[in-house]
Amino acid sequence: TKLSTNKLSAQKDGYRFFMEKEIYEQADVITDTLLGRLSVDSVIFDELDKSLFEGINEIKLCACGTSYHSALSASYMFERYSKIKTSVEVASEFRYREPIMTNDTLFIVISQSGETADTLETLKMAKKAGLKTLVICNVDNSSMVRLADSSILTRAGVEKGVASTKAFATQVTIFWMLSLYVAKLKNSLTSDEIASQIHLLREVPASVKVSDAMHEKIKRLSKRYLHGHGFFFIGRDVFYPLALEGALKLKEISYLHAEGYPSGEMKHGPIALADPELFTIALLPQHLLYEKSKSNVEELSARDSTICAISPIEFDKADDYIRTKEHAHYMLEFFEMMVAVQLLSLEISIRLGNDVDMPRNLAKSVTVE
Ligand code: G6P
Repeated sequence: TKLSTNKLSAQKDGYRFFMEKEIYEQADVITDTLLGRLSVDSVIFDELDKSLFEGINEIKLCACGTSYHSALSASYMFERYSKIKTSVEVASEFRYREPIMTNDTLFIVISQSGETADTLETLKMAKKAGLKTLVICNVDNSSMVRLADSSILTRAGVEKGVASTKAFATQVTIFWMLSLYVAKLKNSLTSDEIASQIHLLREVPASVKVSDAMHEKIKRLSKRYLHGHGFFFIGRDVFYPLALEGALKLKEISYLHAEGYPSGEMKHGPIALADPELFTIALLPQHLLYEKSKSNVEELSARDSTICAISPIEFDKADDYIRTKEHAHYMLEFFEMMVAVQLLSLEISIRLGNDVDMPRNLAKSVTVE
């Protein structure tokens, strides 16, 4: 036993769990994901045939779990930057609801493993319907990579923690790049706009570097937060999928009840739950709908919910505060806040004494229906 423990901890490089190691690896794996794919004013995907986007008027994304959340974030970027109509669906729903598929649609599946049964099935359906298909995947030669017309690999390396972290980070990175790649093909952004976004993309690795100050702060907060009866993660725009992802991480490894919600939707029901035992984790980026999001959080605070603000701007109504750095763009804020919510679930789970890497009832890859 001693030997295997030693061996295991060597593999973890001194981190307590693989999930922690994988959170810390995100700067490196994003660097790898960007490697050779950026020039000054364009995104390069040598693996893609330029004709992939010819005649395409719509993008449909399908995935499960964490990959579904990255797909949701992609829908904001494809519409905002590529000006292309985009919809997203959970694979297990899509496969049974007799969807209408037209061949001006590019069908994209997203999967860390490339083996998830429901997602694989939607890919088969799309192929059968004659749609062009693309997979964003972390495993070369996986079933989905072999089946799709085209593939982009995320280069996150082997991910061992059942709760996905670095794979998600690289998926969102790829989607940001892909939305600019399409923007260039379709002239939906000027070359100056694309160049300035590419400049920002190069800053993603720095934005996910874990700061000691943030990690220490979250360790301290986790002492109290493990007593929460319920959690709402809230955000707007791309911070809504991030809120969903933060809530999923907490559910997966701490077994606490958490929900992700669009900030503006709280007043339509969930706010009825507000009391001091309800913890609200509020994503408050500086560069995207700050005033709107802030007033949503104020409403919750007025109903006595305990508020933890994640923001570069100090917020006087917050009970707790995780300070993020000032960034030039909301997507860089997204990446730093992603690290904050990952660390929060990690530290709460560790304090609860759970097996962070092998949470109960969950599998890394769900290859049966
Ligand atoms: C399982 C894992 C999740 C993952 C989901 C989709 O449920 O526990 O972490 O997000 O499958 O996996 P995929 O490999 O398709 O991204």
